[in-house]
Amino acid sequence: MVRLQNDGELAGGPGKDLGFSAQTRKEGTVKSTVKVTALERVRAPLLAVVLGETPHKKIPESLAGLDSLLEGELSRIIDSGDFSGKVEQMALLYPKTGPKRLLLVGAGKAEEMSRAALRRCAAVVARKALSLNASSAAFHVAGGAGGGVSPKEMGQVITEGAAQGAWTFKEFQAQEEKQVPLSSIEIIVEKTLRSEVEKGRKAGSAIAAGQELARSLQAKPGNFCTPTYLAKVARKLAKDHGLTATVFGPAQIKKLGMGALEAVAAGSEQEARFIVLEYKGAGNAQPICFVGKGITFDSGGISIKPAASMENMKYDMSGAASVLGLFETLGRMKPKANVVGLVPTTENLPSGSAVKPGDIIRSHLGKHIEIINTDAEGRLILCDALSYARRFKPACVIDVATLTGAVVVGLGNHAIGLLGNDDSLIEEVRWAGDLAGERCWPLPLWAEYREQIKSDVADVKNSGGRAAGTITAGWFLREFVDGFPWAHLDIAGTAYTESDRPDMSKGPTGIGVRLCAQFVLGRLKG
Ligand code: BES
Ligand code: MN
Ligand code: ZN
Repeated sequence: MVRLQNDGELAGGPGKDLGFSAQTRKEGTVKSTVKVTALERVRAPLLAVVLGETPHKKIPESLAGLDSLLEGELSRIIDSGDFSGKVEQMALLYPKTGPKRLLLVGAGKAEEMSRAALRRCAAVVARKALSLNASSAAFHVAGGAGGGVSPKEMGQVITEGAAQGAWTFKEFQAQEEKQVPLSSIEIIVEKTLRSEVEKGRKAGSAIAAGQELARSLQAKPGNFCTPTYLAKVARKLAKDHGLTATVFGPAQIKKLGMGALEAVAAGSEQEARFIVLEYKGAGNAQPICFVGKGITFDSGGISIKPAASMENMKYDMSGAASVLGLFETLGRMKPKANVVGLVPTTENLPSGSAVKPGDIIRSHLGKHIEIINTDAEGRLILCDALSYARRFKPACVIDVATLTGAVVVGLGNHAIGLLGNDDSLIEEVRWAGDLAGERCWPLPLWAEYREQIKSDVADVKNSGGRAAGTITAGWFLREFVDGFPWAHLDIAGTAYTESDRPDMSKGPTGIGVRLCAQFVLGRLKG
């Protein structure tokens, strides 16, 4: 169901075509299947065999057929010690018959095998397939995943990893030399594992589609991915999957008293939107609520940012992208849960009508905020969403936001900053992040830090200065959390990469989708 609030026909973004292909295909970009067959019968352009460390230089029983197809080359390469199965070690062979290429991939010690490690392996293989122009790949884990990874989890993470590694963004490079996409993978398993692996593959494919949507939204620059565009995407998600989308424009935002969101939008020609997505799969159960920061471009406003790398501030809607991506996943998976997604979205630009340092504004909750720095805009749009969340009587609220440069200083690009008002929720989010391969690290919200955001003239100010920037931003948000367990994910260091990685091309990462999906799935059993 799509509900349009009374803002007249809400204008669309540039171009009629939404241009997100993952929506229209049943499977994501990479189609995955599970197949029971002997490895020596595989005829794919690329067969990847994941192999743990082989301390006794013995190849596993299950590879005997492949070894004889290769006239013992497998035994010889392992015997030589050149390939020992260490993590991400690779050897590429060209069999005379059978698969065109055979890629051995090291998986390390069996006891160290984890969902994250296997997912990463699959992603590295997919990247390798791209570089070899292989349009399809077969994937086999010698001896099953073992370690702590069940067959079902194996199917899931291989599917997720392959999609992650294969993802590229070429929407604005139609003229470019054609790169052969990796369009399908086959997971080769023993007969006894088939049905479990297939269950996992289905889940993985839904999660991959969500992550792909998130990444494609992130990749679009500010002149394409506007607040109205994000609203269109939300409406399309609702239409495709039978969800409810409600979109508020400037008039409703004003009526709702969302003065903080309004203040950030004041300098922009693009209209702001407040997007509400609802997925109902569990009757009257209290919903889990996710909030995503949707700044479609962050110039800093009047407190303007330096020019260097400012183009990366198109990624300041990454939290919004992960929430929209999550709903793509939910729409496909249909879990028995109730989930609400809130996306406040606007640009942050300077102009004669822009909010200024020193201005005092009134938030949706009624607290007054002194604006110290217009570049601390994320917390402003989020605070109105957090207080709006109350009306859903949520079981918990988790916000996802590229909120502070300080989290990049503190944790770099390898961990999400995690804060909140409830220790058990924080633990639960960490657990979901570990399983999803999107790790979080907690930071303290001690009362002492709150002093830094006290204002002389208003209830609170929007900047606590340089010291502990991620924590004081967290404290600001907490001022607007009223009566529910809440966790905050600062993804400023993890939402995009500035160089290629072995498991992912440079650019948007889609971080948050897998974690949020895992969080929802984790609550199903509880
Ligand atoms: N969007 C930025 C945070 C950011 C920085 C995201 C680097 C991705 C990479 C946010 O709106 C911001 O500008 N935060 C300021 C807050 C400060 C003015 C209190 C920051 O972190 O410098
Ligand atoms: Mn900013
Ligand atoms: Zn920002």
